[in-house]
Amino acid sequence: MDSEIEDVRLDQLNHDEWSTVAGPEWNDVDALHAHLSQNTNIMEASLRLPWDALVPESAVVLDLGCGSGWLTGMLTKNPRVDKVIAWDLSPALLGEVLPGMVRLMGGDVDKVERVCGRFTPIMLDDHSIDLVVMSSAFHHEPDPDALLRELVRVARPTGAIVLLNEVPYSVMWMLFASASMAIASAVNAMTTRVTIKKRGHIAADHVLYDDDLGDRAFTQSQWVRLFKRHDLDFMKVDTSLPSYPQSYRRRNPLESNLTHFILRPTVR
Ligand SMILES: C[S@@+](CC[C@H](N)C(=O)[O-])C[C@H]1O[C@@H](n2cnc3c(N)ncnc32)[C@H](O)[C@@H]1O
Repeated sequence: MDSEIEDVRLDQLNHDEWSTVAGPEWNDVDALHAHLSQNTNIMEASLRLPWDALVPESAVVLDLGCGSGWLTGMLTKNPRVDKVIAWDLSPALLGEVLPGMVRLMGGDVDKVERVCGRFTPIMLDDHSIDLVVMSSAFHHEPDPDALLRELVRVARPTGAIVLLNEVPYSVMWMLFASASMAIASAVNAMTTRVTIKKRGHIAADHVLYDDDLGDRAFTQSQWVRLFKRHDLDFMKVDTSLPSYPQSYRRRNPLESNLTHFILRPTVR
């Protein structure tokens, strides 16, 4: 056997990448900017953070799971920001969408350094980052403790970690999701006459509800327990905005507002 080993790992990774599974607008920068700015409230919600208190002079920022780069672009406009490391798993978003998005946001592409990689491990030095931001991204990580440990490691002790645009799930939603999965699994275990199709899984600290995009739901208590395990002080910013304007999508009565968590190491 003297043939070479064919290595398809990169092709496999690119096959499931975000811009192919999340919808066609993720490949077109103008359409995506219009979608995010008009059909979602994430940009508006991000303005409700106290950026002046979060961004020090000559700041180096890590935008982990930057996606299209709208937040990267917004941050580069801040004169106190020297550099934004825009990090994502999707080479298509980083290569074909992000530069145009930074420009559409009025940002400065020269301040952006792009890294294509997974959330963990973060190939950056300990305590090298003044501000870590993750917008609508943290809940995609299968191992939240491992990711939070890495965020704490790379952040300066005086810096902050901001998880933006998360939606803490209501206990009622969680109970409904857990009960329907439990019923489906019991029925499927007992008989072959009916099959209840139910995607995702329930874990003690979250519910995975979208297998394709890897979305996990955490209740407020599950978020807080996670932060406490890592000895982090946290401040919650309830933006009072739903994820989508009413004109685009009717709000589910159980759905919480877009919420930001500002995390800092506990000072003792
Ligand atoms: C919901 S999008 C959010 C994008 C952007 N931050 C925003 O606010 O629009 C989630 C992003 O996380 C990225 N992502 C998901 N899992 C990842 C992982 N394990 N490592 C790195 N990036 C990941 C996806 O490629 C996608 O761009």
